[in-house]
Formats: sequence, C-alpha cells, structure tokens
Amino acid sequence: MTDTKTKYLFFTGKGGVGKTSLACATAVEMADSGKVVLLVSTDPASNLKDVLESQVDENITPIHGIDNLFAINIDPENSAEEYRNRVTRPLEGISSKEEIKKIREDLSGACTTEIASFDEFSRFVSGETEGAKFDIIIFDTAPTGHTLRLLELPAAWSNFTEENPDGASCLGPTSALKSGKERYHTVVDRLRNASLTSFYIVARADKASLKEASRTSNELKELGMSNQQLYINGVFKAMDKQDELANKIEAISIEQSNSIPENLKSLPLKTFPLLPYNVLGIEKLRSLFNPKIQLTITENLVSTLAFSTQELKGINELTEELCKNQQHGLIMTMGKGGVGKTIAASAIAVLLAKKGFEVLLTTTDPAAHIQDFIEQLGELPATLTVERIDPKVETQRYTEKILEHKG
Ligand SMILES: Nc1ncnc2c1ncn2[C@@H]1O[C@H](COP(=O)(O)OP(=O)(O)OP(=O)(O)O)[C@@H](O)[C@H]1O
Ligand SMILES: [Mg+2]
Repeated sequence: MTDTKTKYLFFTGKGGVGKTSLACATAVEMADSGKVVLLVSTDPASNLKDVLESQVDENITPIHGIDNLFAINIDPENSAEEYRNRVTRPLEGISSKEEIKKIREDLSGACTTEIASFDEFSRFVSGETEGAKFDIIIFDTAPTGHTLRLLELPAAWSNFTEENPDGASCLGPTSALKSGKERYHTVVDRLRNASLTSFYIVARADKASLKEASRTSNELKELGMSNQQLYINGVFKAMDKQDELANKIEAISIEQSNSIPENLKSLPLKTFPLLPYNVLGIEKLRSLFNPKIQLTITENLVSTLAFSTQELKGINELTEELCKNQQHGLIMTMGKGGVGKTIAASAIAVLLAKKGFEVLLTTTDPAAHIQDFIEQLGELPATLTVERIDPKVETQRYTEKILEHKG
C-alpha cells in the first residue's frame, strides 16, 4: 500500500483529517513487513497511546502486540524543562538561587518551548542517536500551522545560531542546545532530499481541507521539501443506493474531490474510504489499507449495533440560551482537531449578529482561514466583524511596543 522508499515519512494536514490514523496504519504495515519502525509524535496533544492501545511516553517504547514497532512522544513542556535544566545545571554553586530562578523564568516562554522541542525532534532526523537503528521513522505531526513552524525552524535556526552565538534571551547560551549548526544543516538537507524524506499531505474530500492541503504543499515546496503525496481520507460511498441522504453525501464528496486545487493535481494520489468505526487498535489500523479486514470488522459491528436515543439541541436553541439573560460576553469554542470548532463559532457569531448584537468573530489558530467557513453561511449581517489573530503580526506589534518602552 505504502510505496515509499524513503527512511523519513511525515504526515501532515488540517486538524482531524486522519494524520495519526494513516501514520499509525503505515507504521503497522511496515512493521508487519519486517522493517524496524519508529513512530514519533510531534503533536503536543499526542493520542498515539489511544490509537495504538499501548503505552507511549517520552522514551522510545516497544508497541504491545506487534514486533519491530516503537513509538515516542516529543512533549514540548518536558523538552523545555530539560532544556532549562541543561542551561542552569552548570551554574549551580556559582550563581545565587535568585539568579538561577530568574534565568529559568526567562526561559519559560513559547520560544524556548518551540526550540527545545525542535531540538529533540532533530535528533531523529540527524541520526545521531537511537534514530540510527531504525529502518523507517514516521512523524505524526500536529495540525498544519504548528508543523510548518517546526519544519521552518531548522533553516531559520541554523542562521540564527551562526549570527548570535550568545543566544537570544529566550534561549540562553545556544551552547545548551543539544545540536549545533552542523546538525541543523544535516536535518534541512535530509528533509529536502527526495530519496530520504516523503511528505504525506492528508486531506478529507472537502473544499476547506483540500485548500489547506494546497497551501501546505506550496509552503513545503518553498522550504525545498517537494517529495509529496496526497492522501484523501474518509471518502464516503453510499452502500444503499435507495438511501437519499447517503446518495447526497456521496455526490457532495465527489463534487468536492473534483475541485482538487491545481498544484495538488501533479502529486501522486491515494484515497481511503470512510469507515463505519473509529480507527483504534492494531487490527483496525491494519484494516485502513485492507478492504477484507474492513468487511469483517463491519459485519461484526453491525450485529452488535445499538442506536442512541438521546436528542441533541440545535444551534438555534443554543444561541437563544447564550443570549437569554446577557448583553455582553465572550464565547470560546474548543475541542480536538477537525471536530467543528470554526464552523460552530462562525454559526453562533452569524446567528447572534442577526439578532442585532455587535459581534466580533476571531481565531487564534495559526493556520486558520475563517473566511473559508464564513462564506458557506451566506450573506453576512452588518453587525458582524470577522478578524484573525495572526501570531506573526502580534509578535511584531509586541516587539515594537517593547522597543518603544525600553529603547
Ligand atoms: N477513514 C476513516 N474512516 C473513519 N474514521 C476515520 C478514518 N480516518 C480517521 N478516522 C477517525 O477520525 C478521527 C480523527 O482521526 P485522526 O486522529 O487520525 O486525525 P488527525 O489528523 O491526527 O487529528 P489531529 O489533528 O487532532 O491530530 C479519529 O476518531 C479516527 O479514528
Ligand atoms: Mg493526530
């Protein structure tokens, strides 16, 4: 199924499209074929443990029930803590407790966390550590924005460490990085080398997800990482041709897959069906690439199926409730990747604005394109303002403010 010949495989894509499922299924398939495989999650919200139904932590751990498969989570907070320890350990006994505390506080921001996790991640590509004994290393990543940031870092930081040997305030002395300039260069070279690294851009058969895949493909190309393949996951097929709803959903998914953005058309493409079950555990992971196992699991499932009788409220009722006794407020939608945070927030915002409330709809997602969603909701009321918190713009604004005050 996976016709890759490279050692490093990256699975990337929008939240909830199936990166983890496909990364794990590929890992299982390769381990089954006798390869020694390491699965690395760079997602701060890693769910490898649940999907593989086996212990996974910050150390390389063998996966229960399958030979040759190992997994590890790179935990950003843990990496940052270890980094702080490496910076302050040599100062113990030399500097005062207060000074050490101050240094640790300086090294507690997002910048340190990002660099420290990249520092961990880069070991697996540079092959300096345990990475060397694995035939294949598969990276399951966080939703797009975070991943691109991670991949941009090696290029940016190899320049940075060259120009700033004393480090930035968020780093302390760059000597505390495990890897030097050379390792960063090696990592960038390997990520760009088509015989060593493949990028699997995962999408669902819908416009928003394909549009994001298209952007990701371009951004990876700009970084020189062009060995890409497109995986369209969760493609719906109506089994009962008399079922009108099923036929309609199938028609929508065919129409949307036909509008694959131009730049993705040249990529090798594979599609995977929408399964009537969650892809949890080794056997279900195997089924993702194997129609026979899919059928067996589905037949077993159908015989034990129970329907929920719980009635859920609609979005109109929810909005009524939200503004019943209130004129002002802040509403935040939260949840796992791909569950519908943006579309729910957009719908609530439009409904409240239609009631006459002045509404600001904004997003903190680095890869968010709220406009794509809001367009689906038709004409927008004049009382609705749509905006986006862009981390780059905000960082710039913050830097300018600080410079203004401190000179
Ligand atoms: N082909 C499929 N058919 C049915 N369910 C699927 C399929 N692929 C994935 N799923 C289910 O969809 C959900 C999201 O999948 P997964 O966790 O792999 O996505 P992800 O892209 O890794 O999400 P995140 O961005 O949150 O990391 C899971 O519950 C998974 O079991
Ligand atoms: Mg995932």
